[in-house]
Amino acid sequence: MSRCSAPGKIILFGEHAVVFGKPALALAIDLRIVSDVQPSDEFTVNGHPMKKRHHAYISASLDEAWGGPPVSVRTISAIPSGSGLGSSAAVTVSCVGGLLAAKDQFSPELVARKAFEVELTVQGRASPTDTSTSAHGQGVLISPERLDGLLWKIEKGGSTWNIHHRDVMGLTFVIGYTGIHAATGPLVANVKKLVDVEPSAARSIDRIGEIVMDGADAIKTRDKKRLGSLMRENHELLNGLGVGHEALDKLVSACQENAYGAKLTGAGGGGSMVALTDDPKVTSEAIRKAGGEPITVRVGAQGVRVEKR
Ligand code: PMV
Repeated sequence: MSRCSAPGKIILFGEHAVVFGKPALALAIDLRIVSDVQPSDEFTVNGHPMKKRHHAYISASLDEAWGGPPVSVRTISAIPSGSGLGSSAAVTVSCVGGLLAAKDQFSPELVARKAFEVELTVQGRASPTDTSTSAHGQGVLISPERLDGLLWKIEKGGSTWNIHHRDVMGLTFVIGYTGIHAATGPLVANVKKLVDVEPSAARSIDRIGEIVMDGADAIKTRDKKRLGSLMRENHELLNGLGVGHEALDKLVSACQENAYGAKLTGAGGGGSMVALTDDPKVTSEAIRKAGGEPITVRVGAQGVRVEKR
């Protein structure tokens, strides 16, 4: 009936702070998830009867974007789940995309809006960063203010996120995956608890917002030194918010000599870090030696795309 694919992402700056309405800069990566949607006698996921608990994102995608007869959904993923690389967003975006394509209603903006609702339903608190980046691809700057390159605007619960296109080609990143699976929802909830009681945590959120805007300027001029130093500062602030992990610190330290900068990416608590480098081989080796799984990625990948209809 239809097949759709969507990319994962790295958050270069602004994770967690973006949930509080601050800006964030995210880059689509060339690791994709494919969702295949076919007519069926019953709702199934990868050949098994669909269960809300086991297939939270796909079942919520069907609630949000379908409303038709039973379908079977099959997914093929190149993104480790719980790795901080946006696997839940990519599965949601590709599935919603496939369902909308089957109804002839496909557009990246509609996919982004519906996929954000799905993440909210499943996670409780969320920002549209991952879902909009997976839908648009390339680079995405999310901000409370409207800037140049506006794609669409999402409003929810008193927060406004303007989603803007950013060109991010020509930068090389190596991801270091810790192999530690960390669920995003509880990490996001813990940051909220901390910010509610600790004024210094609220200040960190504000500072991260400034780093994002500096980073967006540095991306324009491809100022890698500046990007690297902002990445290091952003990493320390995230550690202060309690979303770090010693395995992440180890990988970040391993990149000190061979990369412009490195930081955790995504929700933290395990998951992945990312390093900006001119020498991906050396950086990959350093990450491997420090116990991580290196993945060299091309950034600026294409967003959600219908593969077959
Ligand atoms: O765990 P990931 O890679 O999906 O990243 C979550 C990013 C957060 O800012 C922590 C949450 C959000 O919804 O923006």
